Amino acid sequence: MGAEIISGTEMAREIRGEVAERVTAMRSADGKTPGLATVLVGSDPASSTYVRMKNRAAAEVGIRSRQVDLPESISHEELLGWVEGLNADPEVDGILVQLPLPDQIREDEILEAVHPAKDVDGFHPVNVGRLVSGSTDVLAPCTPRGIIELLMRSGHDPAGRHVVMVGRSNIVGKPMASLLLRRGRGGDATVTIAHSRTANLAEITRLGDILIVAVGRPGVVTADMVRPGAVVIDVGVNRVDDADSEKGYRLVGDVDFEGVRGVASAITPVPGGVGPMTIAMLLSNTVDAAQTGRGGDGE
Ligand code: GUN
Repeated sequence: MGAEIISGTEMAREIRGEVAERVTAMRSADGKTPGLATVLVGSDPASSTYVRMKNRAAAEVGIRSRQVDLPESISHEELLGWVEGLNADPEVDGILVQLPLPDQIREDEILEAVHPAKDVDGFHPVNVGRLVSGSTDVLAPCTPRGIIELLMRSGHDPAGRHVVMVGRSNIVGKPMASLLLRRGRGGDATVTIAHSRTANLAEITRLGDILIVAVGRPGVVTADMVRPGAVVIDVGVNRVDDADSEKGYRLVGDVDFEGVRGVASAITPVPGGVGPMTIAMLLSNTVDAAQTGRGGDGE
C-alpha cells in the first residue's frame, strides 16, 4: 500500500500560471510591472542556487527581478545601506535578503530594516506580529504559505485536524503554526509544535493527522513515528553523499521517505515537494506587495 505522492512541482506550476495572469492584468490595468530584488551575501553554493532559482522563476512570470550580489566580507552598515537603497527604489516592490548571513551581520537588524510593505519573506516583526494576531492582510512567510496551498489543493484541509509541527524556526515552524491557527481558509487547525528538546517525540508525532517536519536532519522521522493514514509534509532539504550521483551528493528530506510512505496516506517528496511551492509563494507575495503596497494572502 503506497501513499499518495503530493507533487509540489505540478502545483507550483499551476500557481506560477495564476501569478503570471495577475502580472499581465496589472500591467494592462495600470502599466505597472512588479519588481523583486534579491540580496545574496557571499557565495554559499546552496544559497546561490536558491537565489538564482528565485530570480529565474520571477522572470518567467513577468516580474522584473534583480539580484544584488555582495561580498562575504561586507560590513553590517554597508548591508544596511543596500537595504535602505532598495526600500527607496520605486521599481522594487519586494525585497528578499537570503539567509543565513555571515557572522559580522546582525541578522535581526537587517530583517527589521526591510520596509514591511516590501517584506516578501514576511520576516519583519511588524508582519510577524500581524500574522500572529490573525491578520489575513499580511505578507506571510513563503514556505509555510506554500505548505497551506499544498494541503488545500491536494484536498487535505487542516481545519479541525491535529497538525503536529516538528521544528520551531522563525522561517518555518513558528509562522506555520500561526497560519494554521488563523480563522478561515487553510487555518482552523489544532496545532502542536515539537522541537529538538521535546521529550518522547514519537509519542507526539503519532498524534498528528497532519505531520509537518522542518528540522534539517535526514531521517529524523521514521515510520514508527507516524500515525497510520497521516498526511506527511517534509520540509527538509539535506545533501547526503552519493558516489553514484554526478554531483557526488543527492537531496533527501527529514523524513525516511521509503519507510513512511508505507504508513502515511499522503506524503511530499524531496525534491519536488515543498521547495517549488516556496518559490511560487514568493512570486505571489511579490505581486501582492506591488498591488496593495502591503500584501495580503487572505481572501
Ligand atoms: N533561507 C532559507 N530559507 C529562506 C527563506 O525562505 N527566505 C530567505 N530570505 N532565506 C532563506
